[in-house]
Amino acid sequence: MDSATINTITASVTGLDVQAIRRQFPVLQRLVKDMPLVYLDNAATAQKPAMVIDALSHYYTYYNANIHRGIHSLAEEATAAYEATRDTVQWFIGAAFREEIIFTRGTTEGINLVAYTWGRANVGKGDEILISAMEHHSNIVPWQILCEEKGARLQVIPVNDAGELNMDAYESLLNDKTKLVAVTHVSNALGTVNPVRRLIDAAHRVGAVVLIDGAQSTVHLDINVQAMDCDFFAFSAHKLYGPTGIGVLYGKKQLLELMPVFHGGGEMIKEVTFEKTTYNELPYKFEAGTPNIADTIAFKMALDFIGSIGKERIRNHENELLQYATAQLETIQGLRIIGRAKEKTSLVSFVIDQVHPQDIGILLDNKGIAVRTGHHCAQPLMHRFGIPGTIRASFAVYNTKEEIDALTEALEKAIKLLI
Ligand SMILES: Cc1ncc(COP(=O)(O)O)c(C=O)c1O
Repeated sequence: MDSATINTITASVTGLDVQAIRRQFPVLQRLVKDMPLVYLDNAATAQKPAMVIDALSHYYTYYNANIHRGIHSLAEEATAAYEATRDTVQWFIGAAFREEIIFTRGTTEGINLVAYTWGRANVGKGDEILISAMEHHSNIVPWQILCEEKGARLQVIPVNDAGELNMDAYESLLNDKTKLVAVTHVSNALGTVNPVRRLIDAAHRVGAVVLIDGAQSTVHLDINVQAMDCDFFAFSAHKLYGPTGIGVLYGKKQLLELMPVFHGGGEMIKEVTFEKTTYNELPYKFEAGTPNIADTIAFKMALDFIGSIGKERIRNHENELLQYATAQLETIQGLRIIGRAKEKTSLVSFVIDQVHPQDIGILLDNKGIAVRTGHHCAQPLMHRFGIPGTIRASFAVYNTKEEIDALTEALEKAIKLLI
């Protein structure tokens, strides 16, 4: 199939003009190995619409300036654009106050911020931190470091064969020593959507604080941190059609106010003397140094892009792709889907008998198809399923059923070649 064919097919019956959406993504017009790019690695990072790319260039072309400190026009324009993103994020995740939106480099930095500040102040010897067996390494390692430093214990909620959390085991692991529950909203390796409201309510009953890793959920699901009642929520812009190097840590204001600072430097201070430093108000207390101004400004365009289509329409389209891909892949002999949760976002992880995932990845790339292979930064989860890794196809708003057909066809050919 040539790129014109893929781009002229409107794949969905959900009322979404996928063709028009695809035209907003310059990279989708390119060829890879002389084939039209079929980009199915969206859970790793999503492609960027022209409005995001243009916002970066526009900032550097017309109003590049450092923010907050300047009184000249460029500094004022840059500050206004940077702070406008904070307002949009507040609206996007339903936070009560704009000061609760802390800009970070991404999910990883947001989780580390909580581990190094809230964690160091609140976790002690004999305390417990509860994570799940489906966490990304970003939501494991910071807690391991904290537990080692403090003599605390890391406890793990088990996952069943379908890839769902064992909620009975979770409830029995909670106790008065549990200081923090840190769980992913959506598994990057399985697509499982976790029942976060239930997890949070149960954790709060024993007085534990809850951090939700929203890296994989924020682009697909409606997020309202107040309705969810999480204490912290971390995510990355690059998985929401935004730039890399910018993310958000949401925290409840009363918690953030009590937390010690993270990085020391400019911007996060009120007054510095050699004897004593006093710290800035929220959110600047946690935003030391010159931030990632251009990417933060462009991030607003990504959120506007999502808003212009509407999360519900995006979700309907992606659900349709998930159902279709699951049905198509199941027709392939020897293919086993890992992750059969009732609630899933639009990704399919699978293994194929007698074939190494990486070999499949290389053969698919020869057809211009980008998927992810390996452990997906979730090695403990791979151990749980007794596999070294999976092949993961993950879908975004611009993907089509024709691309899933291209994947299925290429997989069948690759398997014939390899076995
Ligand atoms: C569930 C989950 N958590 C955390 C991360 C880390 O995100 P980042 O690398 O953007 O900090 C990812 C990235 O894939 C993820 O999928």
